[in-house]
Amino acid sequence: MLFDTTHLQSLQTPCYLYDTELLARTLDAIHAETQQHDNYHVHYAIKANANPDVLRQIAAAGFGADCVSGGEIRAALDAGFPASEIAFAGVGKADWEIKLALKASIGMFNVESIEELDVIEQLATELNMRARVSFRINPDVGAHTHAHITTGRAEDKFGIAKDDMIAVLRRAMDMTHIDVIGLHFHIGSQLLVMDDFAALCVRINELQDVLDAEGIALHNINVGGGLGIDYDQPDVHPVPDFHAYFSTFTDGLQLRPGQQLHFELGRAVVAQMGTLLTRVLYVKHGHEQQFVIVDAGMTELIRPALYGALHQIDNLSAAERGASAAVAPTPILYDVVGPICESSDVFARDYALPPTLRGDLLAIRSAGAYGETMASTYNCRPLPAAHLI
Ligand code: LLP
Repeated sequence: MLFDTTHLQSLQTPCYLYDTELLARTLDAIHAETQQHDNYHVHYAIKANANPDVLRQIAAAGFGADCVSGGEIRAALDAGFPASEIAFAGVGKADWEIKLALKASIGMFNVESIEELDVIEQLATELNMRARVSFRINPDVGAHTHAHITTGRAEDKFGIAKDDMIAVLRRAMDMTHIDVIGLHFHIGSQLLVMDDFAALCVRINELQDVLDAEGIALHNINVGGGLGIDYDQPDVHPVPDFHAYFSTFTDGLQLRPGQQLHFELGRAVVAQMGTLLTRVLYVKHGHEQQFVIVDAGMTELIRPALYGALHQIDNLSAAERGASAAVAPTPILYDVVGPICESSDVFARDYALPPTLRGDLLAIRSAGAYGETMASTYNCRPLPAAHLI
């Protein structure tokens, strides 16, 4: 990604920058893999980035939406996602959110418990509407990712145990205001090992055999999201390997005739197009360590503090100084830290940067997913602005 620092100098930092051209290329790459399958449907997971301009661009490219709250359903509708292409997931849907979804006639509820099913039936009956329901089944498949973002093991809070699947489906099929349309799965996030998705396919095939034996035919299989991105080398892999991802499902799943396959990708769509722009406030020379103290913190990007994530950091101003220097300066190892009163407010430790000065602009890369959406006002800080570039 090329940045023109003269233009960026005028921006109030910290702020997010979104590269709409890279987003367009990413959306095209998804289309290239899915367009030959008219039964494939990609719902963009709004939780990854809910910036209205970003949402409009994704909606205009013909994607559906995966929402986990009433607020996300409103944001999706406002951005132009068709209601029929909205999936509503989440373990704790409030009554007002269920009613909002019913009134908007969304495409499907991904239901996570029998208790939730009963409430949806009751509210749909009151409103005299029908709810299209998929059941999230916990496939008990492990995933190679951070413990906080793996979701498909038997001990995780998500979904219905696979041994209860038939009983739940039968109960729902007896209800008067529920249309049972499918099964939903999601095993975790930031997955780079395609074998995890292949293991999910094996499990789905087994469950479909059980459905066949019971004489139950379902219209939809939804495999959730989770495709990871390259945080280490964003410039080498700006667009994720969608071919490897989609072909894992094409090769691994034995769909039944007419079955529709749904995906809920979030991070893979938006992570690489986003950068958190921050300015160096101080370069503090400690006895043991040198600190680059920047004006962004865990309030703008919580992933390093919460998951130990490492985002690439580029010193844009130093790169400009270096371009005019005869010899490239030797990099220095810095701890790059934010201003928040928490010792976990660290973007990177012992991170090699060119000699860095107060006022330098730094780009914290791959921050388009779960950056702005997870920002907080802790320490009475304002929420960051976002600009399209
Ligand atoms: N579908 C369901 C049911 C989900 O729970 C999620 C993400 C997605 C789809 C989209 O997953 P993706 O394709 O983005 O991996 N804040 C964490 C990630 C949390 C993911 C939660 N669920 C992070 O910053 O890494």
